[in-house]
Amino acid sequence: MDDLKKQTTKDGSLSLYSLNFQEGFHDIDGALKESINKYLIPAQLDQFSKTEKIVILDVCMGLGYNSGCIIEELLQHNYKIVWHGLEIDQRPLNIGLNEKKFNELWSQKVLNFFNSLKESGKWKEGFNEGTIHWGDARQKLHEIKHSLRFDLILLDPFSPQKCPELWSEEFIYLLSEKLSLVGRLITYSSAASVRASFKKAGLKIYSIIPEIDKQNKWSSGTVASKKELNQQCISKNRQIKDLSKKEIEHLATRSSIPYRDPTGRANSKDIILTREIEQTKSQLISTSSWRKQWKAAQ
Ligand SMILES: C[S@@+](CC[C@H](N)C(=O)[O-])C[C@H]1O[C@@H](n2cnc3c(N)ncnc32)[C@H](O)[C@@H]1O
Repeated sequence: MDDLKKQTTKDGSLSLYSLNFQEGFHDIDGALKESINKYLIPAQLDQFSKTEKIVILDVCMGLGYNSGCIIEELLQHNYKIVWHGLEIDQRPLNIGLNEKKFNELWSQKVLNFFNSLKESGKWKEGFNEGTIHWGDARQKLHEIKHSLRFDLILLDPFSPQKCPELWSEEFIYLLSEKLSLVGRLITYSSAASVRASFKKAGLKIYSIIPEIDKQNKWSSGTVASKKELNQQCISKNRQIKDLSKKEIEHLATRSSIPYRDPTGRANSKDIILTREIEQTKSQLISTSSWRKQWKAAQ
């Protein structure tokens, strides 16, 4: 338990800090706020049909905020849900469920979802069903029926420099194969390496527009999809947008060099090292020179 420290974020919601990964689970501004702004809103749930099941994959469930927010909304509007989760550590969900502050955030139905996963790894309620696959996401992804396609993939590992194994070109490719034709892969990351891997996997990419009080940031994350999103989705309420010129150029710098893990079993140090070597040998413009050019032009 020692490596996970509880912390209260600025919106009052509970989060954790991992001493092993040396990173917090959430933005310090708010665990709940982050899930709403970076996962629930960009999912634009009203695009989905209520007559068909909406199929969700939560990669790195942690305390469960991303799925919690989305399932809360879907249940309120009578959507039918099929849910799968990937998570290596059972402790975050247990810690959350032991905290009053966490329990108070959710309806009884969402608490049933969390408690069922905790008790049995399964959730069943009417037409809705879910399974959590405890273990390394790279291996556990293969437990999911091959033919299942996801309408939402919520990708929320620690940052690429801390957990490169879940941002590798190969893992992203496997996720992209599991996306349905109308599906969205959503992540808080706007890293060039991650976006370049989405593009290499054949996905179209969009930028999550930062909230009003964070307009100094370029982006709050990325939405990737197999098909181009229609303009209505893109312009709706300033939630997602096409990449800016700056974001496109960023993809041509050395930062775009991917994390590689062809065996799906490499350790993070090796993945980082291999990428660093590839970056030093690369003909691409260094990200620092590109940044200087941008500053000079402003
Ligand atoms: C940033 S936190 C996720 C936050 C989470 N979405 C939430 O709402 O609380 C990253 C999570 O990735 C998990 N994780 C780290 N390495 C993993 C791996 N190889 N496979 C699956 N999960 C992993 C950690 O245990 C942690 O819960």
